[in-house]
Amino acid sequence: MRVLGIETTCDETAAAVVQLVPGGSAEILSNEIMSQIAEHAAYGGVVPEIAARAHIEIIDRLVELALDRAGVDIADLDGIAAAAGPGLIGGVMVGLTTAKALALASRKPFLAINHLEAHALTARLTDDLAFPYLLLLVSGGHTQLVAVKGVGDYLRLGSTVDDAAGEAFDKVGKMLGLPYPGGPQVEKMAAEGNAARFDLPRPMLGRPKPDFSFSGLKTAVRLEVERVGPLTATDVADVCASFQAAVVDAVIDRCRAGLRLFRETVGHPNAMVVAGGVAANGAIRRSLMRFCGEAGLRLVLPPPFLCTDNGAMIAWAGIERLSLGLVDDLTFAARPRWPLDANAEAAHHGKA
Ligand code: KG4
Ligand code: ZN
Repeated sequence: MRVLGIETTCDETAAAVVQLVPGGSAEILSNEIMSQIAEHAAYGGVVPEIAARAHIEIIDRLVELALDRAGVDIADLDGIAAAAGPGLIGGVMVGLTTAKALALASRKPFLAINHLEAHALTARLTDDLAFPYLLLLVSGGHTQLVAVKGVGDYLRLGSTVDDAAGEAFDKVGKMLGLPYPGGPQVEKMAAEGNAARFDLPRPMLGRPKPDFSFSGLKTAVRLEVERVGPLTATDVADVCASFQAAVVDAVIDRCRAGLRLFRETVGHPNAMVVAGGVAANGAIRRSLMRFCGEAGLRLVLPPPFLCTDNGAMIAWAGIERLSLGLVDDLTFAARPRWPLDANAEAAHHGKA
């Protein structure tokens, strides 16, 4: 089974072909990605109109490239998948319309993929992993702990009550005058810094419900930055190291609460899985290894290029759905908001 996956929900245009070989293992035949970082950098964040236009300009060529690199034609595909949300509506529509047009012209099944579900299922592309598992999703737009019980079957255990983890990294980076996006830059600077220099809060520490909060931590960083005054390179490194250490402590404490809740409500998880751009962070990866080692839990950490947004995860989610006969209609509309767990969303009224 071979599926083309298209991703345009944020600031990366991506297209990939993934193949499921008999026996159940997956193979990424191509994984093309075009980042728009340069276009947005001057604004210090993603500008929706610029993103939508950039997606339109590149998508056709990128799909062609993905097919070429994979050595396949549209006729060799079993399905065409695109992320249909959640994300910036202008961008989502570009990918979704492209996939629908290809599916219509080639009479292939069309698959409308939830971007968060694609992050959630990536671990099954890279590893032989059965449901259920505990997912930590940490990206620029989302921070949540989810019990993944099956394809389309998700229980949100907790989520951020304010900023997403990646958003906090990006805002701290901006505060310190580091280039956009801040996350990778903050990690780089933190490697040179003293994590014990600034005493920053660990939000939500010890709370039984595995929710996250990062806005208080971000404010605490701002106050320290203002107190110190003009920052030297050493100051910047120390702020980054102290901030990253606080995020790591908070994330691990929240995972501990999430694991407890998982065991109480779902049962025994087969693994802990990490997804989303912030999962590329080395300090977070190392701490999760220690945490899972102590908890006797298998840890599945997809490589960083599959943690950040990519087309392979959309293609793989397409394969998972197609294998279950879950195809979508060409009338499927883009969904700027699309929670993994609709019940949690109704109860929470917060971020997806
Ligand atoms: O999943 P993703 O590529 O896009 C979505 O938000 O869906 O995640 C991007 C986020 C950005 O906030 C970026 O700063 C953060 O992931 N990020 C990192 C690192 N690499 C990417 N944050 C901390 N450390 C990193 N190494
Ligand atoms: Zn993402």
